[in-house]
Amino acid sequence: MYPKIAVTHNKTIAVLGGTGFVGQHLVHALVESGYQVRVLTRRRERHRELLVLPRVTLIETDITCLSSLHQHLAGCHAVVNLVAVLNEKRKGDFQRLHVELPRMIIDACVANKIDRIIHMSALNAYAGKAPSRYLTSKGEGEDTIHMGADEGINVTSLRPSVIFGPGDQLFNRFAGLLKFVICLPLACPNARFAPVYVHDVVDVIVKSLNNRATFGQRYDLCGPRIYTLQQLVEFTIKTLGIKRSVVPLGDGMSKLMARILSIAPGKPLTYDNYLSMQVDSVSNKPFPELFGITPQPLEAIVPRYLLNQTQRGQFDRFRLYAGRDD
Ligand SMILES: NC(=O)c1ccc[n+]([C@@H]2O[C@H](COP(=O)([O-])OP(=O)(O)OC[C@H]3O[C@@H](n4cnc5c(N)ncnc54)[C@H](OP(=O)(O)O)[C@@H]3O)[C@@H](O)[C@H]2O)c1
Repeated sequence: MYPKIAVTHNKTIAVLGGTGFVGQHLVHALVESGYQVRVLTRRRERHRELLVLPRVTLIETDITCLSSLHQHLAGCHAVVNLVAVLNEKRKGDFQRLHVELPRMIIDACVANKIDRIIHMSALNAYAGKAPSRYLTSKGEGEDTIHMGADEGINVTSLRPSVIFGPGDQLFNRFAGLLKFVICLPLACPNARFAPVYVHDVVDVIVKSLNNRATFGQRYDLCGPRIYTLQQLVEFTIKTLGIKRSVVPLGDGMSKLMARILSIAPGKPLTYDNYLSMQVDSVSNKPFPELFGITPQPLEAIVPRYLLNQTQRGQFDRFRLYAGRDD
C-alpha cells in the first residue's frame, strides 16, 4: 500500500511528539523516505499503529528526564521536536515542555554527538512579546533551541499557522461539535488564519533534514489563502452538507465564553487560546521557495477526510498520505 521506497539508509531520526497529529504524518513520511525512525512516547501501548510500520521503534520514556533523553537519543542522527501542548494540563507544562525541553534536547544532542535538530514552533511565537502564554513560551523555546548553534548543532525551526489534514484538531473538532448543536456560538469569529496542509509541513521537515541551506533558519509556513475563524466553521458546515447556524460573538462575550469553557471538561477553549487569537495567524512572507512545494489550499483536501470520517464512522488517516494523491 505504501509507495516503493527508493533508498533505504541507516540514518535514524528521533521524533519527539511522533505520536501526535503532525508526528504520525511525519513518521510515515520518514519511513517512506527510507529512514529508521525512533519515536519517544509517554505511552507506548496507545500507539501500536505506528509499530506496524517498517523501521519504526517506539520507546516508552519520560522525555522531560534528561538522563532518559540522553539514553534514548543515543545512535540517532537527527532529532525532530514536535512536543507541545495548547493548554496546560499541569501547571508549568508550557515552561517545562516548550522552554526547558528544548534546552534538554540540546544537552542530549551534545552528549550523543547529534548535530541536527528540526524544531516545530508556531507562527506569532515571540519570547516576551506574544499575546498568550502558549505563544510566549513557544517563542522562548524557539530561541533556546537556536542556541544549539553555539554547541555546533544545525538547527532549523518551523513556524506554521494552523495545520489541517487527516486527524487535525481544527476541522475534525468543529465537525464533532456541529453534530451536537444546531446553533454554534463562536468566540473570536474574526481571528484570521492561513491554514497549511500537514503534508506540506511534513515535506518541509523531510526536505530540511539534509539541506545545509536550511541550517540556522526559521521558516513561516502558511497555506495559500487566509480565512476568518467564522469562514472556516462555515466551510465545515458546507462540507458536511448539514444545516447549522453560526452566531459570531463580540469581544466581551468571546472572553466570557473562553473563561467558562476553560473550566469545562477537556477545556475546549481557554482564555490563553482567546489571547492567542488576538493576533492574526498569517505571515507576510511567502512559503519558502527552496523546498519546491506549492502549498495546498484546503478546499480540495478537507472534504476527502471529513466526509470519509463522518460516512464511515472512522477514517484511515494515512490513506491519503500513502497515495500521495494531493
Ligand atoms: N496542529 C497545529 O495546528 C499546529 C499549529 C502550529 C504549530 N503547531 C506545533 O506543531 C507541533 C506538533 O503539533 P501537533 O498538533 O501534532 O500536537 P499533538 O497532536 O498535540 O502532539 C503533541 C505531542 O506532544 C507530546 N506531549 C504532549 N504532552 C506531553 C508531556 N507532558 N510530556 C511529554 N510529551 C508530551 C505527545 O506525545 P506522547 O503523548 O506520545 O508522549 C504528543 O505526541 C507542536 O510543537 C505544535 O506547537 C501545531
